[in-house]
Amino acid sequence: MSESEQRILEERTSEAEKEVKAIEDELDRISKGDLSFTGDAQLEKLLSENEKLKHRLAILENAVKEEGSKGKAKSNTQAESSDEIVKKVAKKRPTLITDISSVEGNICILDELKNVFEAAITSAYPDLEDPPVVITLSGNNPKFGDYQCNSALAISQLLKAKSVKTNPREVANNILNKTPTSPIIEKIEVAGAGFLNIFINKKLAEHILNCILRFGIKPPPVKKERVIVDFSSPNIAKEMHVGHLRSTIIGDSICRILEFLNHDVLRINHLGDWGTQFGMLIAHLQDEFPDFKTHSPPISDLQAFYKESKKLFDTNEEFKKRAYACVVQLQSGKPDYIAAWKLICEVSRREFQKIYDRLDIKIIDRGESFYHSRMHIIVKELKDKGYLEEDEGRLIMWGDPVKRDGIPLTVVKSDGGYTYDTSDMATIKQKVEEEKGDRFIYVTDAGQNTHFVTIEACARRAGILKKDQKIENVVFGVVLGEDKKKFKTRSGDTIKLIALLDEGLKRSLDKLIEKGRDKVLSPEELKQAQEAVAYGCIKYADLSHNRVNDYVFSFDKMLDDKGNTAVYLLYALTRIRSIARTAQISLDTLLEEAQKSDFTLSHEAEWKLAKVLLRFPEVILKVSKDLYLHSLCEYLYEISSAFTEFYDRCYCIEKDKEGKIVKVFYNRLMLCEVTARVMEKSFDILGIKTVSKM
Ligand code: ARG
Repeated sequence: MSESEQRILEERTSEAEKEVKAIEDELDRISKGDLSFTGDAQLEKLLSENEKLKHRLAILENAVKEEGSKGKAKSNTQAESSDEIVKKVAKKRPTLITDISSVEGNICILDELKNVFEAAITSAYPDLEDPPVVITLSGNNPKFGDYQCNSALAISQLLKAKSVKTNPREVANNILNKTPTSPIIEKIEVAGAGFLNIFINKKLAEHILNCILRFGIKPPPVKKERVIVDFSSPNIAKEMHVGHLRSTIIGDSICRILEFLNHDVLRINHLGDWGTQFGMLIAHLQDEFPDFKTHSPPISDLQAFYKESKKLFDTNEEFKKRAYACVVQLQSGKPDYIAAWKLICEVSRREFQKIYDRLDIKIIDRGESFYHSRMHIIVKELKDKGYLEEDEGRLIMWGDPVKRDGIPLTVVKSDGGYTYDTSDMATIKQKVEEEKGDRFIYVTDAGQNTHFVTIEACARRAGILKKDQKIENVVFGVVLGEDKKKFKTRSGDTIKLIALLDEGLKRSLDKLIEKGRDKVLSPEELKQAQEAVAYGCIKYADLSHNRVNDYVFSFDKMLDDKGNTAVYLLYALTRIRSIARTAQISLDTLLEEAQKSDFTLSHEAEWKLAKVLLRFPEVILKVSKDLYLHSLCEYLYEISSAFTEFYDRCYCIEKDKEGKIVKVFYNRLMLCEVTARVMEKSFDILGIKTVSKM
């Protein structure tokens, strides 16, 4: 390259650098919040120009580099910093929806409103760092709109702290002035002490409902995660009690909601299948069924078998010694002992499976024994890294070695054995490192919370959990009888789960017969309804209460056909389903109608119901984060209430005196269809089967 060519090249590079710089300044200004109404288009243009320039710059730089020029390093840093700004701007400004037709049926309106108002607020107050963007549902009075933005009060306080004189109403007006036009909003009004009342655009609602009708219910889009849900987890040879029932019902529903969102969910049954109790069980097995290796022993009642062996263990010294010896043999992996252990586990598992089959629960067995070899590894690791301390012969670990508050983990017992703590340390390591999980959920009674808090602290201290990873212990309260005391049979025994489910079946059949349903339904339909009601009501009663509270188990309340119960809601759904059936309008006809004309929501009650239905993605996203399923139950109840009001006030079909259909309101039948679909999906997430007739 000649000298002049080299100079031209350098000049062009420096020009390009200047242009990039100008655009970066512009972007920076925008990123600081200077975004007017036309801002989005302007931003788009700038970003694309910046892209092109960067490309040109890269070509020029390459040429300069080949010539050995020093211009390279400088331009490079500039190109990088422009990259950062583009990223920053992109992060700060999610693309807002500009056109209704681009909206899909799974849009979360609340999130979009947050985006819109974040843009407005950062634009109105560019100097405030992370200003609060508070959007809430408005409540029942239609005067206050559908949603509210309640940021003005907090912002005016922030400003006051910076000695800026203002008041919430003024702030609200400023925000309003900077709010970008959005097709999801019909209008915004400033009210009271500075609230912004947001009214949703009816056209948007009509479009969304149309999408649901034509394409079905789709999950709102989320970043895919690998979620490990540890639930149910009963103990071998012991009673699977009502606490495990709660864990099973809540855990299954959590998995269902996360699976609906297309996460990669691993359902783990952390069975208590390892420990010293197996010593006495094996010793007793050898006594009672010496040929257990060739003939499968007919143990029908493992609980009774457990009780017998426990009694021997407590009263018979010789038996006790043998039991201990059996533990040693088992731990060292002697085949005969492993076989006996497997056999006992199998008997238990068969019992558990009966419950899972009835409740339609899918789960992978991976008990404590699975972590046996991993426990040696974690103990060595913790020891080597100096996390373990001696304490009266035991090896313990504190979550915080300085504060030393709470209870430390017992990692190794004084006899050298491992504990529940050891197994959960090995478990979390396996879940992080082998399973590569993003989210770790454990569904247990609230009594285990301290255990998990300590496991989390120790796992973090040991570097197993990274900064952004945590243990989510989804806790629940105890199940009480109707006398508000611990749930027991009249004779004071613990209630067997199978017996409980059987009673549910019996009571649900009684209820259906009481309502004369046996006379209208075929035997097959009656059986389906009986099971849906029985298992549905048990699950719903559990899920519809805030899980952290204790809850009173009452078949009478569960089977009530009024109020927020499964029976009421399942009835409501079958009634909705029967509307189109009676009108003899097929789904195909409805779809044809949906293609032909817009979905119109003209009556007030239609509009009200539609707005409830639109909130489905919002409810799902909330529950998938906080894992409080009662919000979904409350939502189901809200749908059915809005539907009742709609159906009371709006005819779907008109008949003449002879009962002949004279007019069909297709849009209302479409609304019925969408309502039914949202309800069905919600039931599905709660693990409750629906029936078309009951
Ligand atoms: N088996 C335990 C119990 O019955 C529950 C296990 C919960 N999961 C866990 N990883 N610790 O209480």
